[in-house]
Amino acid sequence: MFVHSGKPMYGVAQPDHATVLAYPQLHTSRHPVVADKLTRLRAAETPSAGFRRAMTELTLCIAYEALADMPTRHIRVTTPIEETDGVALADRIAVVPILRAGLGMVDGFLTLFPNLQVWHIGLYRDEESLTPVQYYNRLPALATVDTCFVLDPMLATGGSAAATITILKEWGARQIVYVGIIAAPYGVDRLITAHPDVPVYVAALDHSLNDDGYIVPGLGDAGDRLYLTGQPG
Ligand code: PRP
Ligand code: URA
Repeated sequence: MFVHSGKPMYGVAQPDHATVLAYPQLHTSRHPVVADKLTRLRAAETPSAGFRRAMTELTLCIAYEALADMPTRHIRVTTPIEETDGVALADRIAVVPILRAGLGMVDGFLTLFPNLQVWHIGLYRDEESLTPVQYYNRLPALATVDTCFVLDPMLATGGSAAATITILKEWGARQIVYVGIIAAPYGVDRLITAHPDVPVYVAALDHSLNDDGYIVPGLGDAGDRLYLTGQPG
């Protein structure tokens, strides 16, 4: 007799790691600095302050990779010596952190672009069904930028990222890029199936989800580790 464990991912088929790693939309970092910082982020003994710092530093590294193909425009610049050719990024960009854990990635982008627009969308995933529940949306009235970077460190089932990108498209966003830290094959497959036009940049593709829908080996609950939720005060 089949007995269901009551866990949401129990018995759910998951795509093969090697197959998903080869998806052209997925960009995983090969940089040793990223691997070093990711190891610090994963370690259970890394305290909240170190965790936040590692996430900011990793975001900065992955942002460089995600911005590598951004269009530029020619400008003239005057150095202390002479006038010369220069470039400026041509696109106007905004970041959209998915609350809460996506907030941990905003400072990395702000370090690169202090005048970025930051728009907030709040979703949590229901722990029993793993479906995303929206509780906050603070998008401006008009989509006034060319590219939106959706920030969320964890791409697990992909439900939260896919729902956020659907919200952004319905609102009028033109180009969208997902930037995360750790993804599971199941979540990447779901996100790319729903939004094949969205490039996905992460530090690593882990091997699977456990029966509770957590990424394995992952780093645990990103929001709880950032904000010390559930720890004695
Ligand atoms: C985490 C994470 C993602 C989501 C990923 O958020 O930050 O938003 O889970 O899971 P999914 O790919 O299966 O949708 P969580 O729901 O724990 O909310 P929090 O950031 O407020 O802790
Ligand atoms: N959300 C997290 O914070 N961690 C996971 O492993 C999955 C979803």
